[in-house]
Amino acid sequence: MAKTIIVSNRMSTSVSRSEQGFTFTPSVGGLATGLSSLRKEKSSLWIGWSGLPSDTLTQDERNSIATTLRSDHKCVPVDLSTEDLEKFYYGFCNNIVWPLFHYFPTYVTYDDEYWESYREVNERFFERIKQFLEPEDIVWVHDYQLMLLPAMIKEHEPQARVGYFLHIPFPSYEVFRLLPWRQELLRGLLGADLVGFHTYDYARHFLSSTRRLLGYDHDLASVRYENRMVRVDVFPMGIDYERYANSINLPAVREQIAQIDADRPAERIILSVDRLDYTKGIPQRLRAYERFLERNPHYSGKVSMIMIVAPSRTAVPQYQELRREVDELVSVINGRFSTIAWTPIHYFYRTFPFEQLCALYSEADVLLVTALRDGMNLIAKEFIAAKGDTPGVIVVSETAGVARELSEAIIVNASSVEDIAHGLATALDMPAAEQVERNGRMQERLRRYDIHYWATDFIEKLESAVEHQQTYLSKRLAGSTRRSVANAYATAERRLILLDYDGTLLPYMDRPDRAVPDADLRRLIVKLTANRNNDVVLISSRGREFMTEHLGELGAGMIASHGVWTRRAGEEWEQLVPVEPDWKSELAPIMQLHADRTPGSRFEDKEYGLAWHYQGSEPDLAFIRVSELRDALLSVSANHNVTIFEGNRVLEVKSALASKSQAAATWHEHTDYDFILAAGDDQTDEELFASLPERAHSIRIGLGMTNASYFLENPGELRSFMGELA
Ligand code: G6P
Repeated sequence: MAKTIIVSNRMSTSVSRSEQGFTFTPSVGGLATGLSSLRKEKSSLWIGWSGLPSDTLTQDERNSIATTLRSDHKCVPVDLSTEDLEKFYYGFCNNIVWPLFHYFPTYVTYDDEYWESYREVNERFFERIKQFLEPEDIVWVHDYQLMLLPAMIKEHEPQARVGYFLHIPFPSYEVFRLLPWRQELLRGLLGADLVGFHTYDYARHFLSSTRRLLGYDHDLASVRYENRMVRVDVFPMGIDYERYANSINLPAVREQIAQIDADRPAERIILSVDRLDYTKGIPQRLRAYERFLERNPHYSGKVSMIMIVAPSRTAVPQYQELRREVDELVSVINGRFSTIAWTPIHYFYRTFPFEQLCALYSEADVLLVTALRDGMNLIAKEFIAAKGDTPGVIVVSETAGVARELSEAIIVNASSVEDIAHGLATALDMPAAEQVERNGRMQERLRRYDIHYWATDFIEKLESAVEHQQTYLSKRLAGSTRRSVANAYATAERRLILLDYDGTLLPYMDRPDRAVPDADLRRLIVKLTANRNNDVVLISSRGREFMTEHLGELGAGMIASHGVWTRRAGEEWEQLVPVEPDWKSELAPIMQLHADRTPGSRFEDKEYGLAWHYQGSEPDLAFIRVSELRDALLSVSANHNVTIFEGNRVLEVKSALASKSQAAATWHEHTDYDFILAAGDDQTDEELFASLPERAHSIRIGLGMTNASYFLENPGELRSFMGELA
């Protein structure tokens, strides 16, 4: 039976050494809770690092830890040594990916050794997974430490259902492209069937990077990646809502609340809770608070900030530097504003237990979340949930992922001390009824899309992505379908073979206007035409001249100019439809102008058509230009009988009368073929596929929605299939 394997850098149970031996602490954090329903099955597993460097343990200790983890926690540890921690964890993860993905490019230390270690450690995770992996298992990989893993799993076990979720931002292409290993990382992620992000912006950046760096097209919901469709979607992570909403009923929380009430540092409390990280905007927040105190002297003695900062990644120099900066700012502000009876900032450099945090959530008037960048920020959601129907305002920066969901919060710019100070004042002055009302609306959303829903939603989407994928794959010309087409060919007596040229027999070229057939292709066509039972017809949008010159001697019939002309082998060209080429002189300058304005694109004047090729241009610009050009062409083409259509990175105009399918019909309507095969790769070929008799075999080149009965990935695959037939 299929099982679920969760993989993350830290697994759901952490191990620490204590005097009595080892302590196993299961996480009560959001992720572990959200995934708990997926982990009900006995066979489910969580694979990750235990938290102890492997070289600080003896072999016996490692074995005994692994045994307990497996039997009591359904966890399987991956060994990371002190050196791995230095190069993989501190190095690649936290000195390269973390700062870059959070838009701190100047903090990045590019180092090939770090990269090597990242690859090795991902490989080690993969080796561990391999020991347990069975064909239809669900493997859900988490976060930036394991970006290479999805492709490793998929390559080894194509049947596995692989999901990936990134818990941090995915940066804009301009930032992501700075990484020397950008393509490897993208390919690693594209091994998944579903790639999930917290926000639409992250998904958009990822899609733009795959298109611009690897050239794979997408339709906003999925990337066409080699022979697969990789689904990309947004899953804003939720929290264990009820746990926070009900925390107020816990005796321990009530005790803490009473304690806070007794020791109340001031009438109003501003709360700030983070891991110590430069992405969180802590110094800016402190400066903003200072500005607020300057501007609002009447709050002196009446408001205190409780700032909780949890130590993190203490071996990274920037974190050490930040700690010094925060210490200093706190003491400067306290030194400046304190009175004997009042301290403006109560600063704690440590973690707080759940009960104490909930008590603070409940007591605080304002939560200040002003991250410069944050993938999501769950603290903000916890605060809202814990508030119940008591007042409290959240001030959140627009660069924290959570801001997208908390539109009722006060949204500020994290870099603007002025804006935060102003937001803080607005929050403190907001009428209580309004606070409760705003929170109510946010609570409704957070209650619905909680961590359980988040996890279930992801898994459901993963399953549907895989199903969808299978409907594509079932059309792949392989195995038994391939044999049955080959068999039909072998037993037929009169065959018609309709082959589109560009993109079907020949891959798209840098200079599509110059793509001449290579010797292999010519040999293949000659081989097919040499069989007297075959009528081979080469179809193209190209003009007669090109076809006669490059394909005329191969014994094949031809259809030129999208179906304006046809020629039987050894005969003269015959015109099938009247043409009015006068439209060309009107439309050509418009297309030429677009080509000139779009670097990397080309204009081509065909005998009875015009084309603007843009495979060499920057895809996002081309995307804009395509719609501009379409509009421009439509407005001047109203008086002409032309069709404007998109091919594979080309926008074309042809006479509306010219049609590949009609031209092909002049062949199959007059001869009684017992085998018809057509292959093509674009919209005009789709029309042809749809027009053929039902018994025909049609092959689309490239993955996509198609009328064809089968697909093959690229011209190379088609050629080898045709070679087998001939
Ligand atoms: C972020 C990352 C997590 C990471 C956590 C704590 O939330 O997305 O993957 O585990 O920070 O960081 P640490 O480096 O201590 O694991």
